[in-house]
Amino acid sequence: MTDYSPDTISPTTPRVGVIAGSTRPGANSEALTQWVHELCVSRNTCDYELISLRDWNLPLLDEPGVPAHTGPTLPHTKAWSNKVSSFQGFVFVTPQYNWGYPAPLKNALDYLFKEWNGKPALVVTFGGRGGGKCAAQLKEGTFALFGAMLCCQPLIRDSIGSG
Ligand SMILES: Cc1cc2nc3c(=O)[nH]c(=O)nc-3n(C[C@H](O)[C@H](O)[C@H](O)COP(=O)(O)O)c2cc1C
Repeated sequence: MTDYSPDTISPTTPRVGVIAGSTRPGANSEALTQWVHELCVSRNTCDYELISLRDWNLPLLDEPGVPAHTGPTLPHTKAWSNKVSSFQGFVFVTPQYNWGYPAPLKNALDYLFKEWNGKPALVVTFGGRGGGKCAAQLKEGTFALFGAMLCCQPLIRDSIGSG
């Protein structure tokens, strides 16, 4: 069995991107992603980097080619591609918006293809009712397409109900 004790951290330690899924000023995802990032770091098993899509400020997808068929051509796509390629896995911390996941997260995912492909992903969703539909959308749609392995799917709910 693999030993993931702190003593085993090395330059080859897997890098994991912890990505906040919403970009509104003062978004709840900022604090929640920070908290999830701190929890991850406290385990000392991987090299975890917090990614704020707000900082990346990606325009609505403006690559002329289809990302699954062509590589990045624009400077912001190349930079985003390099960043995502540097990770072996991801934690997505995202609210649910209208039964789905937020447009900025979809845009950031749509920019790339092979950079996500086959990498493990953990999804933490939250929302007024917990974000189960948003998690399902990622799991059964986008990540299935990317061939990503979904580790688990915790939900943070701040009121009772479904949706
Ligand atoms: C546009 C929009 C749509 C929302 N739709 C849902 C929804 O379908 N289900 C839900 O449980 N909460 C929904 N909410 C509530 C948010 O998930 C909740 O307020 C969350 O904390 C917002 O995260 P943020 O501050 O990171 O944007 C919605 C909020 C917004 C702004």
